[in-house]
Amino acid sequence: MDWDLMVKVAWDLRERAYAPYSKFPVGAAVMAADGRIFAGCNVENLSYGLTQCAERVAVGVAIAAGARELVALAVVADTQVPISPCGACRQVLAEFGVKRVLLANRGERLEFALEELLPRATAGILDRSE
Ligand code: THU
Repeated sequence: MDWDLMVKVAWDLRERAYAPYSKFPVGAAVMAADGRIFAGCNVENLSYGLTQCAERVAVGVAIAAGARELVALAVVADTQVPISPCGACRQVLAEFGVKRVLLANRGERLEFALEELLPRATAGILDRSE
């Protein structure tokens, strides 16, 4: 996985974050199985609960481009500790097959399997095996 490229794309997209309420811009990049990279940023709303996380926006961009099989995601924020996708985003990442997740801030990178962040995300549902 070319994490350097993924992280760069995520930082670039973070510049477009719409985060006037939290003032907490986030960028994310997803890689599709065919190698294409798609990116997203958080999109907040005055009705706070409508906020879309960067990760789910990146997935939506990929799906809109016709990439349904996703393999990896990087998320970046300018924090002391690398941030981690929320529970809802983890479930959405599982839906499209993301396997590897990189959490990055300006100086640190932490890599996880999605299975570590959300074990048995789809097991048993509609007779899925894993
Ligand atoms: N946020 C993300 O976009 N991704 C994360 O992984 C954590 C949080 C956004 C949501 C909200 O706009 C802001 O960060 C503060 O929670």
